[in-house]
Amino acid sequence: MKGIVLAGGSGSRLYPITQVYSKQLALIYDKPLIYYPLSVLMLAEIKDVLIISNEETIPLYQKLFGDGSHLGMNIQYKLQPAPNGIAESFILGKEFIGDDSVTLVLGDNIFFGDLEFLYKAVKDNKEGATIFGYRVTDPERYGIVQFDKSGRVLSIEEKPKLPKSNYAVPGIYIYDNEVVKISENLTPSARGELEITDVNNVYLNKGSLKVEIIGRGVAWLDTGTPQALLQASNFFGVIEERQGLKVACVEEIAFAKNFISETEFEKLINSIPKCAYRSYLEKVLADYKGN
Ligand code: TTP
Repeated sequence: MKGIVLAGGSGSRLYPITQVYSKQLALIYDKPLIYYPLSVLMLAEIKDVLIISNEETIPLYQKLFGDGSHLGMNIQYKLQPAPNGIAESFILGKEFIGDDSVTLVLGDNIFFGDLEFLYKAVKDNKEGATIFGYRVTDPERYGIVQFDKSGRVLSIEEKPKLPKSNYAVPGIYIYDNEVVKISENLTPSARGELEITDVNNVYLNKGSLKVEIIGRGVAWLDTGTPQALLQASNFFGVIEERQGLKVACVEEIAFAKNFISETEFEKLINSIPKCAYRSYLEKVLADYKGN
Protein backbone atom coordinates (compact mmCIF):
# COMPACT_ATOMS: atom_id res chain seq x y z
CA MET A 1 0.00 0.00 0.00
CA LYS A 2 1.36 3.38 -1.04
CA GLY A 3 0.25 6.71 0.46
CA ILE A 4 -0.28 10.12 -1.09
CA VAL A 5 -0.69 13.43 0.73
CA LEU A 6 -2.20 16.02 -1.60
CA ALA A 7 -0.83 19.21 -0.18
CA GLY A 8 -1.03 22.02 -2.71
CA GLY A 9 -4.21 23.69 -3.89
CA SER A 10 -5.06 27.33 -4.36
CA GLY A 11 -5.99 27.94 -0.73
CA SER A 12 -7.89 31.06 -1.78
CA ARG A 13 -9.82 31.10 1.48
CA LEU A 14 -6.57 31.49 3.40
CA TYR A 15 -5.20 34.45 1.46
CA PRO A 16 -2.75 36.17 2.14
CA ILE A 17 -0.59 33.41 3.65
CA THR A 18 -1.24 31.19 0.63
CA GLN A 19 0.43 33.81 -1.57
CA VAL A 20 3.67 32.60 -0.02
CA TYR A 21 3.19 28.85 0.53
CA SER A 22 0.37 26.35 0.63
CA LYS A 23 -1.87 26.12 3.67
CA GLN A 24 -0.59 22.75 4.87
CA LEU A 25 2.38 24.62 6.40
CA ALA A 26 0.10 26.74 8.58
CA LEU A 27 0.57 26.03 12.27
CA ILE A 28 -2.03 23.90 14.02
CA TYR A 29 -1.21 24.55 17.66
CA ASP A 30 2.42 23.36 17.78
CA LYS A 31 3.19 21.82 14.38
CA PRO A 32 2.46 22.37 10.69
CA LEU A 33 -0.90 21.16 9.44
CA ILE A 34 0.66 18.53 7.15
CA TYR A 35 1.93 16.58 10.19
CA TYR A 36 -1.66 15.58 10.96
CA PRO A 37 -2.58 13.87 7.65
CA LEU A 38 0.94 12.42 7.33
CA SER A 39 0.63 10.88 10.79
CA VAL A 40 -2.70 9.30 9.80
CA LEU A 41 -0.93 7.42 6.98
CA MET A 42 1.83 6.42 9.40
CA LEU A 43 -0.73 5.10 11.89
CA ALA A 44 -2.13 2.97 9.06
CA GLU A 45 1.48 1.67 8.73
CA ILE A 46 2.04 3.18 5.31
CA LYS A 47 5.75 3.94 4.92
CA ASP A 48 5.96 4.91 1.23
CA VAL A 49 4.49 8.36 0.83
CA LEU A 50 4.31 10.82 -2.05
CA ILE A 51 3.69 14.47 -1.16
CA ILE A 52 2.14 16.38 -4.05
CA SER A 53 2.29 20.16 -4.05
CA ASN A 54 3.25 23.31 -5.93
CA GLU A 55 6.64 24.72 -6.87
CA GLU A 56 6.85 27.14 -3.93
CA THR A 57 5.99 24.63 -1.24
CA ILE A 58 7.78 21.41 -2.27
CA PRO A 59 11.23 22.72 -1.17
CA LEU A 60 9.74 23.60 2.22
CA TYR A 61 8.28 20.13 2.70
CA GLN A 62 11.66 18.71 1.66
CA LYS A 63 13.24 20.78 4.42
CA LEU A 64 10.78 19.33 6.91
CA PHE A 65 10.84 15.68 5.90
CA GLY A 66 13.78 15.10 3.51
CA ASP A 67 13.63 11.59 2.08
CA GLY A 68 11.86 10.40 5.20
CA SER A 69 14.65 7.98 6.16
CA HIS A 70 15.04 9.53 9.64
CA LEU A 71 11.41 8.40 10.19
CA GLY A 72 12.05 4.97 8.67
CA MET A 73 10.00 6.07 5.68
CA ASN A 74 10.42 6.66 1.97
CA ILE A 75 9.02 10.13 1.25
CA GLN A 76 8.98 11.43 -2.31
CA TYR A 77 7.65 14.64 -3.84
CA LYS A 78 5.78 15.47 -7.02
CA LEU A 79 4.90 18.78 -8.58
CA GLN A 80 1.30 19.61 -9.40
CA PRO A 81 1.75 22.57 -11.76
CA ALA A 82 -1.79 23.84 -11.12
CA PRO A 83 -4.63 22.76 -8.81
CA ASN A 84 -6.37 20.64 -11.44
CA GLY A 85 -8.34 18.57 -8.99
CA ILE A 86 -7.94 15.89 -6.35
CA ALA A 87 -8.15 12.98 -8.81
CA GLU A 88 -5.07 14.29 -10.63
CA SER A 89 -3.08 12.81 -7.70
CA PHE A 90 -3.24 9.36 -9.28
CA ILE A 91 -2.03 10.56 -12.67
CA LEU A 92 0.82 12.50 -11.08
CA GLY A 93 1.51 9.55 -8.78
CA LYS A 94 1.31 6.86 -11.48
CA GLU A 95 5.00 5.94 -11.39
CA PHE A 96 5.16 6.11 -7.61
CA ILE A 97 2.07 3.89 -7.24
CA GLY A 98 3.41 1.31 -9.70
CA ASP A 99 1.39 -1.90 -9.32
CA ASP A 100 0.28 -1.18 -5.75
CA SER A 101 -2.87 0.02 -4.04
CA VAL A 102 -2.96 3.56 -2.75
CA THR A 103 -4.43 5.58 0.11
CA LEU A 104 -4.89 9.29 -0.56
CA VAL A 105 -5.26 11.81 2.24
CA LEU A 106 -5.94 15.49 1.66
CA GLY A 107 -3.32 17.69 3.24
CA ASP A 108 -5.83 19.83 5.09
CA ASN A 109 -7.86 16.98 6.62
CA ILE A 110 -7.33 16.00 10.24
CA PHE A 111 -8.60 12.82 11.90
CA PHE A 112 -8.39 12.36 15.64
CA GLY A 113 -9.60 9.56 17.86
CA ASP A 114 -9.45 5.80 17.63
CA LEU A 115 -8.18 5.27 14.08
CA GLU A 116 -8.27 1.47 14.21
CA PHE A 117 -11.07 1.57 11.59
CA LEU A 118 -8.66 3.11 9.13
CA TYR A 119 -5.83 0.71 9.81
CA LYS A 120 -8.29 -2.14 9.26
CA ALA A 121 -9.78 -0.63 6.10
CA VAL A 122 -6.30 -0.19 4.59
CA LYS A 123 -5.43 -3.82 5.37
CA ASP A 124 -8.82 -5.14 4.11
CA ASN A 125 -9.08 -3.23 0.83
CA LYS A 126 -7.71 -5.93 -1.47
CA GLU A 127 -9.74 -4.72 -4.46
CA GLY A 128 -12.14 -1.90 -5.27
CA ALA A 129 -12.36 1.25 -3.20
CA THR A 130 -13.13 2.13 0.41
CA ILE A 131 -14.27 5.61 1.31
CA PHE A 132 -15.95 6.92 4.43
CA GLY A 133 -19.04 8.82 5.50
CA TYR A 134 -19.07 11.35 8.34
CA ARG A 135 -22.05 13.27 9.62
CA VAL A 136 -21.82 17.05 9.18
CA THR A 137 -24.16 20.01 9.58
CA ASP A 138 -23.15 21.68 6.29
CA PRO A 139 -23.46 18.96 3.63
CA GLU A 140 -23.62 21.39 0.71
CA ARG A 141 -19.84 21.95 1.12
CA TYR A 142 -18.82 18.33 0.53
CA GLY A 143 -19.20 15.18 -1.56
CA ILE A 144 -22.37 13.66 -0.10
CA VAL A 145 -23.28 10.01 0.04
CA GLN A 146 -26.88 8.79 -0.05
CA PHE A 147 -27.85 5.38 1.41
CA ASP A 148 -30.99 3.27 1.28
CA LYS A 149 -32.47 1.72 4.44
CA SER A 150 -30.16 -1.29 4.25
CA GLY A 151 -27.07 0.94 4.08
CA ARG A 152 -26.48 0.38 0.35
CA VAL A 153 -24.96 3.40 -1.39
CA LEU A 154 -27.32 4.98 -3.93
CA SER A 155 -25.38 8.03 -5.01
CA ILE A 156 -22.47 10.34 -4.32
CA GLU A 157 -22.91 13.97 -5.29
CA GLU A 158 -20.29 16.71 -5.21
CA LYS A 159 -21.38 19.83 -3.29
CA PRO A 160 -25.13 19.27 -3.91
CA LYS A 161 -27.50 22.25 -3.61
CA LEU A 162 -30.12 19.90 -2.16
CA PRO A 163 -28.14 17.29 -0.20
CA LYS A 164 -29.78 13.87 0.04
CA SER A 165 -28.11 13.12 3.39
CA ASN A 166 -25.85 14.66 6.03
CA TYR A 167 -23.04 12.20 5.34
CA ALA A 168 -19.99 13.85 3.81
CA VAL A 169 -17.07 11.95 2.30
CA PRO A 170 -13.94 12.96 4.25
CA GLY A 171 -10.60 13.44 2.54
CA ILE A 172 -9.21 9.95 2.96
CA TYR A 173 -9.72 7.37 0.21
CA ILE A 174 -8.39 3.85 -0.29
CA TYR A 175 -8.14 2.43 -3.83
CA ASP A 176 -6.85 -0.58 -5.70
CA ASN A 177 -4.50 -0.05 -8.64
CA GLU A 178 -7.40 0.55 -11.08
CA VAL A 179 -7.63 4.10 -9.78
CA VAL A 180 -4.76 5.19 -12.02
CA LYS A 181 -6.56 4.11 -15.19
CA ILE A 182 -9.89 5.47 -13.96
CA SER A 183 -8.36 8.88 -13.28
CA GLU A 184 -6.61 8.97 -16.65
CA ASN A 185 -10.01 8.48 -18.32
CA LEU A 186 -11.80 11.28 -16.47
CA THR A 187 -12.81 14.51 -18.10
CA PRO A 188 -12.66 17.74 -16.09
CA SER A 189 -15.87 18.92 -14.43
CA ALA A 190 -17.66 22.21 -15.07
CA ARG A 191 -15.26 23.88 -12.59
CA GLY A 192 -12.32 22.49 -14.61
CA GLU A 193 -11.15 19.91 -12.04
CA LEU A 194 -10.63 16.14 -12.13
CA GLU A 195 -13.14 15.28 -9.42
CA ILE A 196 -12.60 12.59 -6.79
CA THR A 197 -16.38 12.14 -6.71
CA ASP A 198 -16.23 11.05 -10.38
CA VAL A 199 -13.62 8.41 -9.45
CA ASN A 200 -15.85 7.17 -6.63
CA ASN A 201 -18.84 7.02 -8.96
CA VAL A 202 -16.93 4.78 -11.38
CA TYR A 203 -16.29 2.36 -8.50
CA LEU A 204 -19.92 2.71 -7.37
CA ASN A 205 -21.25 1.91 -10.85
CA LYS A 206 -19.16 -1.22 -11.15
CA GLY A 207 -20.26 -2.36 -7.70
CA SER A 208 -16.86 -2.15 -6.02
CA LEU A 209 -17.23 0.84 -3.72
CA LYS A 210 -17.40 0.37 0.04
CA VAL A 211 -18.51 3.25 2.23
CA GLU A 212 -17.84 2.93 5.94
CA ILE A 213 -19.46 5.27 8.43
CA ILE A 214 -17.07 6.95 10.84
CA GLY A 215 -18.76 7.32 14.21
CA ARG A 216 -18.97 10.33 16.49
CA GLY A 217 -15.99 9.15 18.53
CA VAL A 218 -13.67 10.28 15.78
CA ALA A 219 -13.13 13.98 15.08
CA TRP A 220 -12.78 14.95 11.44
CA LEU A 221 -11.68 18.52 10.95
CA ASP A 222 -10.95 20.22 7.67
CA THR A 223 -8.99 23.37 7.88
CA GLY A 224 -9.68 25.47 4.83
CA THR A 225 -10.67 28.73 6.55
CA PRO A 226 -9.07 30.98 9.21
CA GLN A 227 -11.86 30.05 11.67
CA ALA A 228 -11.28 26.33 11.09
CA LEU A 229 -7.51 26.76 11.63
CA LEU A 230 -8.12 28.54 14.91
CA GLN A 231 -10.64 25.94 16.05
CA ALA A 232 -8.27 23.09 15.22
CA SER A 233 -5.41 24.82 17.06
CA ASN A 234 -7.57 25.33 20.13
CA PHE A 235 -8.84 21.76 19.95
CA PHE A 236 -5.36 20.22 19.89
CA GLY A 237 -4.01 22.76 22.38
CA VAL A 238 -6.65 21.64 24.88
CA ILE A 239 -6.09 17.93 24.27
CA GLU A 240 -2.28 18.11 24.37
CA GLU A 241 -2.19 20.23 27.49
CA ARG A 242 -4.70 18.04 29.31
CA GLN A 243 -3.03 14.72 28.49
CA GLY A 244 0.60 15.75 28.24
CA LEU A 245 0.66 13.77 24.99
CA LYS A 246 1.20 15.14 21.52
CA VAL A 247 -1.10 14.48 18.58
CA ALA A 248 0.48 13.82 15.18
CA CYS A 249 4.05 13.86 16.47
CA VAL A 250 5.60 12.04 13.53
CA GLU A 251 8.85 11.17 15.34
CA GLU A 252 6.94 9.54 18.21
CA ILE A 253 4.73 7.59 15.80
CA ALA A 254 7.74 6.39 13.79
CA PHE A 255 9.19 4.96 17.02
CA ALA A 256 5.89 3.57 18.34
CA LYS A 257 5.21 1.83 15.02
CA ASN A 258 8.75 0.40 14.89
CA PHE A 259 9.64 2.28 11.73
CA ILE A 260 12.84 3.22 13.60
CA SER A 261 14.87 1.55 16.34
CA GLU A 262 15.57 2.95 19.79
CA THR A 263 19.05 4.04 18.69
CA GLU A 264 17.67 5.77 15.62
CA PHE A 265 15.03 7.49 17.74
CA GLU A 266 17.71 8.74 20.11
CA LYS A 267 19.77 10.03 17.19
CA LEU A 268 16.71 11.76 15.78
CA ILE A 269 15.99 13.46 19.11
CA ASN A 270 19.58 14.67 19.31
CA SER A 271 19.21 16.36 15.91
CA ILE A 272 16.33 18.55 17.18
CA PRO A 273 17.20 21.93 18.75
CA LYS A 274 16.46 22.30 22.49
CA CYS A 275 12.76 23.13 22.76
CA ALA A 276 9.49 21.82 24.18
CA TYR A 277 9.06 19.50 21.18
CA ARG A 278 12.46 17.89 21.87
CA SER A 279 11.77 17.66 25.63
CA TYR A 280 8.56 15.82 24.81
CA LEU A 281 10.40 13.26 22.68
CA GLU A 282 13.07 12.86 25.37
CA LYS A 283 10.28 12.05 27.81
CA VAL A 284 8.74 9.51 25.40
CA LEU A 285 12.13 7.77 25.20
CA ALA A 286 12.72 7.94 28.96
CA ASP A 287 9.24 6.46 29.61
CA TYR A 288 10.02 3.67 27.14
CA LYS A 289 13.27 2.92 28.95
CA GLY A 290 11.34 2.88 32.21
CA ASN A 291 13.06 5.91 33.81
P1 TTP B 1 -9.82 22.38 -1.39
O1 TTP B 1 -10.13 22.72 0.02
O2 TTP B 1 -10.90 21.81 -2.23
O3 TTP B 1 -9.23 23.60 -2.15
P2 TTP B 1 -8.06 24.58 -1.82
O4 TTP B 1 -7.10 24.05 -0.83
O5 TTP B 1 -7.42 24.95 -3.10
O6 TTP B 1 -8.71 25.81 -1.04
P3 TTP B 1 -9.71 26.98 -1.48
O7 TTP B 1 -11.04 26.33 -1.65
O8 TTP B 1 -9.65 27.90 -0.29
O9 TTP B 1 -9.18 27.65 -2.71
O10 TTP B 1 -8.62 21.32 -1.40
C1 TTP B 1 -8.60 20.20 -0.58
C2 TTP B 1 -7.18 19.76 -0.32
O11 TTP B 1 -6.57 19.25 -1.50
C3 TTP B 1 -6.26 20.84 0.14
O12 TTP B 1 -5.36 20.24 1.07
C4 TTP B 1 -5.56 21.31 -1.10
C5 TTP B 1 -5.46 20.07 -1.91
N1 TTP B 1 -5.57 20.24 -3.36
C6 TTP B 1 -4.45 20.13 -4.14
O13 TTP B 1 -3.31 19.98 -3.63
N2 TTP B 1 -4.56 20.19 -5.49
C7 TTP B 1 -5.77 20.34 -6.10
O14 TTP B 1 -5.81 20.36 -7.35
C8 TTP B 1 -6.94 20.48 -5.26
C9 TTP B 1 -8.28 20.67 -5.88
C10 TTP B 1 -6.78 20.41 -3.92
